[in-house]
Amino acid sequence: MKKACVIGWPIKHSRSPLIHGHWLEKYGIEGSYTKQAVSPDNLELFLDKLRQNGWSGCNVTVPHKEAVFRLADIVHDEARAIEAANTLWWDADRLLHASNTDIYGFMTHLDQSAPGWNENERPVAVLGAGGAARGIVYGLVQSGASQIRLLNRTRERADELAAYYEGTVNVADWRSRNEELEGCGLVVNSTSLGMEGSASLDLSLESLEANAVVADIVYAPLETPLLAAARQKGCRTVDGLGMLLHQAVPGFEHWFGVRPQVTDELRNLVIADLTG
Ligand code: ATR
Repeated sequence: MKKACVIGWPIKHSRSPLIHGHWLEKYGIEGSYTKQAVSPDNLELFLDKLRQNGWSGCNVTVPHKEAVFRLADIVHDEARAIEAANTLWWDADRLLHASNTDIYGFMTHLDQSAPGWNENERPVAVLGAGGAARGIVYGLVQSGASQIRLLNRTRERADELAAYYEGTVNVADWRSRNEELEGCGLVVNSTSLGMEGSASLDLSLESLEANAVVADIVYAPLETPLLAAARQKGCRTVDGLGMLLHQAVPGFEHWFGVRPQVTDELRNLVIADLTG
């Protein structure tokens, strides 16, 4: 029986067991996917135990995404680029691989929900400069975005991120975020603003054209106030749930040997759990 899990501290709210459990059942795989609360002190020992006991691998969430980096034998490009990993697996030689599938998840969902988002190569506005933004900026640049306007409350963090992409990513002041949307083909919220229980994102879409795309990484609520405003304006919208579902695909394939599909059935299952 193949075994995988998600490790974090705390881990109570992870939706990953629901997603992987659905696929295990759907594809008739004899396997398990569980939640494991692992404190930072115990991380190295815990991973060693998984390896010794023949586990296939695991997902990694807060606060371990950076720490697992130094414990992996092989770090894949996406994880290296943003110095954080969310998916680990042992290969046949029992070497530990670390990858970051959030980038794949975000880009796949964007390409599927808003095909041609970069057709006219208009500028992209990214709000935020934290861990999520690092992955999104990397994915957008890899996919051909040639002008990114990076807006973050703490400007130094945006400057730090932009330094990796000189000429492609330009920092603008957080206070001018409304005006910076002018001429953009895509706007991405990579902050936690708009999430249930968090402060709201104060952003006017007035200067954004109706043929632009608006994406949010927040998935609770499914339609954030930002996405609702974008929809009302006639913009195409991309929700955060698709990213969560698609990021799970490569991990499942590594651990259980089947590339799973993100279906409406799965989406509805997770929505029911989020709203239940
Ligand atoms: P993650 O890894 O999930 O991206 P993070 O690194 O804590 O988490 O980043 C959170 C992002 O949301 C940051 O861009 C943060 O802005 P700062 O760099 O200025 O902290 C942004 N953010 C959080 N609360 C915010 C608020 N009230 N107003 C504006 N931006 C906020």
